[in-house]
Amino acid sequence: MAAPERLVIRRPDDWHLHFRDGAILERVVPYTARQFARAIVMPNLTPPAATTAQIAAYRDRVLAATPDDLSFTPLMTAYLTDKTDPDDLARGHEAGVITAAKLYPAGATTNSDSGVTDIAKIDGVLRRMAEIDMPLLVHGEVTHGSVDIFDREAVFIEEILKPLMERLPDLRVVLEHITTAEAAETVRTGGDTLAATVTAHHLIINRTDMFRGGIRPHLYCLPIAKRERHRLAVREFATSGHPRVFLGTDSAPHPIGAKESACGCAGIFSAPTALELYAQAFDEDGALDRLEGFASLNGPAFYRLPVNDDRIALVRGETVAPGPVVVDEATAILPFQSGETIPWRLEAVE
Ligand code: DOR
Ligand code: ZN
Repeated sequence: MAAPERLVIRRPDDWHLHFRDGAILERVVPYTARQFARAIVMPNLTPPAATTAQIAAYRDRVLAATPDDLSFTPLMTAYLTDKTDPDDLARGHEAGVITAAKLYPAGATTNSDSGVTDIAKIDGVLRRMAEIDMPLLVHGEVTHGSVDIFDREAVFIEEILKPLMERLPDLRVVLEHITTAEAAETVRTGGDTLAATVTAHHLIINRTDMFRGGIRPHLYCLPIAKRERHRLAVREFATSGHPRVFLGTDSAPHPIGAKESACGCAGIFSAPTALELYAQAFDEDGALDRLEGFASLNGPAFYRLPVNDDRIALVRGETVAPGPVVVDEATAILPFQSGETIPWRLEAVE
């Protein structure tokens, strides 16, 4: 059957992204709110959004940055630390302020210094989360300097994730932004309590792309892009129709100066064209009929939330990824594939 020219699907959600705070927050929220009905908002601010009070205040700032004419609901997450108070977390969850909690192994990525130094230290918190059925979102990379950066996800799965899931089989876990064949296989063969998100950029780039003709700091993110065989395995899984893999852009804005630096920050800002990029990947793999499950149905099912009632259309056409997004005189953010053309266009459906 010929691939459609126009695909109408339920409005998608972004199950993993970074908005930051202050002027960057105000500048980037509209890009996501235009595309998605809801988003799981990461808490790795400085200082981190770790307590219910901090998270409620952050949610208010996100809502204040949301354009009045767009309907968008931020779903907030708690940044787990060695000192997280399980009672505060449970109260925030019960009150509807906190949807899920995020495990950053200390030192794994941007603003993770206050993260968890040893998973044993949050055992009480994780047990409580299992009891109250609150999802745990995992940055799945070990941090010991002795493990090669390209192996950190696969080692995390063996050393931390599998033992955790055996210890707490009722805890629902999302392995975020997967990048390896090992991760895809672990989630594919895992039980009902284990899911994964996949970014648009990890469907598109491999590690060689980071060095095409020179070092390309705007393609550096964590987990770092892997070999081509891993990209293909993740892509095959994402487009397979499996019910526990869903869309999470990990859109992560950094000022251009912080990326183009002797020690550049990890993060790819894909929010402006996220859905078009996923449509391109699914189309290339002949899987457009499975895009709605990945983008709009599987996430709500895992999070036990209703699906969105409204719809969007993806139309075969052209979208040019925007140029630098100016925040203020000193700050601009470069979108993923800036200036390049994506062969899909997003349209609202009345
Ligand atoms: O590339 C990344 N950027 N990976 C992460 O885990 C964090 C994110 C950020 O906050 O910049
Ligand atoms: Zn992230």
